Amino acid sequence: MSGPILPSLAHKLLRLLPPEDAHRAGLRLVRLLRPGRLEPPEGIQLKTWLGRLAPPIGLAAGFDKTGESVAHLSRLGFGYLVAGSVTLNPRPGNRRPRIVRRRGEALVNAMGLPNPGIDVFAKNLSIGAPLAGVPVVASIAGADPEEIVACYERLRGVVAGVEVNLSSPSLRDAVAIWSEERFSHLVELLVSVKWCPLALKIPPLARAELRNHVLRAVKIWVDNGLESITAVNTLPVSETRLSTGFGGLSGRPLNPYMLETLRELRSLIGGNCEINAVGGIFSAEDALQAFRLGASTVQVYTALVYRGPRVVRQIVADLAKILASMGASSLEEILP
Ligand SMILES: Cc1cc2nc3c(=O)[nH]c(=O)nc-3n(C[C@H](O)[C@H](O)[C@H](O)COP(=O)(O)O)c2cc1C
Repeated sequence: MSGPILPSLAHKLLRLLPPEDAHRAGLRLVRLLRPGRLEPPEGIQLKTWLGRLAPPIGLAAGFDKTGESVAHLSRLGFGYLVAGSVTLNPRPGNRRPRIVRRRGEALVNAMGLPNPGIDVFAKNLSIGAPLAGVPVVASIAGADPEEIVACYERLRGVVAGVEVNLSSPSLRDAVAIWSEERFSHLVELLVSVKWCPLALKIPPLARAELRNHVLRAVKIWVDNGLESITAVNTLPVSETRLSTGFGGLSGRPLNPYMLETLRELRSLIGGNCEINAVGGIFSAEDALQAFRLGASTVQVYTALVYRGPRVVRQIVADLAKILASMGASSLEEILP
């Protein structure tokens, strides 16, 4: 995939396939790229929960569920990559169809957390992460705190950070997962074995029955000195084309929900925790808006599907243009 024509042609052809087949074929094409990162951009960097990142743009969880492609995905210009989500034991996920496209650069998915299980995942990352040249984060999920902590321990020394995913629409019994007692138990267990920076991935605060539980959990997370919150996962919606009849909405229409969640988080926790903004980030303007609301990184998923493999480099180039037009030489100069 070199030269400007081949990637955009391949990207157009992929759009003709059903979304999950397109995803698989896209990952195969990415694996033809040379492993390793691009030259980091000057000025487009920020201090984050993973140290200084250039650019402060990550691949969101769910794109590389097995951890097999991180070395090649870093070639797309990301400053870090989140692989997973992974569970203790392998999961086949839900029946197909489990991803559909929606108008307005959106997807609805009900993947059901398919993954090869923590042992295979950790092995894949132990090979791929050192070749990626950028920090690799593992996203972990589980049915109970003990399972999540077992995954965390198994990744010791393999990744730069871990994102705890309690927010997939496919996790059953969401309210119980976020209950104060259960969440405090999870945090206590994690803190007792902690060996790397941790992020908590939360759902959009749109669901009234979950809102207060999630906000209380965020407070517990931050009060225990944990480093980071990733906001947001997909928004549950009904979708009759999926085998499950419902799924999680991502892409452009998720962006206002993400921004609202960011505002609420900042007013709850002040500057006490790093925030990774994810949900409908497609352009430099989108990224800048999230940075201005206090995010120190942004993550991208659906934009990669609709805009193709050049999207991160485009965002970085446009951020550089915005800085130049403001007479600034670094992102930090223009952020509050
Ligand atoms: C097909 C698909 C699978 C996903 N799988 C996961 C996952 O395994 N774990 C997770 O935390 N988020 C997962 N996500 C959510 C994304 O990481 C991200 O939070 C969401 O898509 C919003 O970002 P976007 O609008 O840039 O796509 C998935 C999203 C999609 C579209």
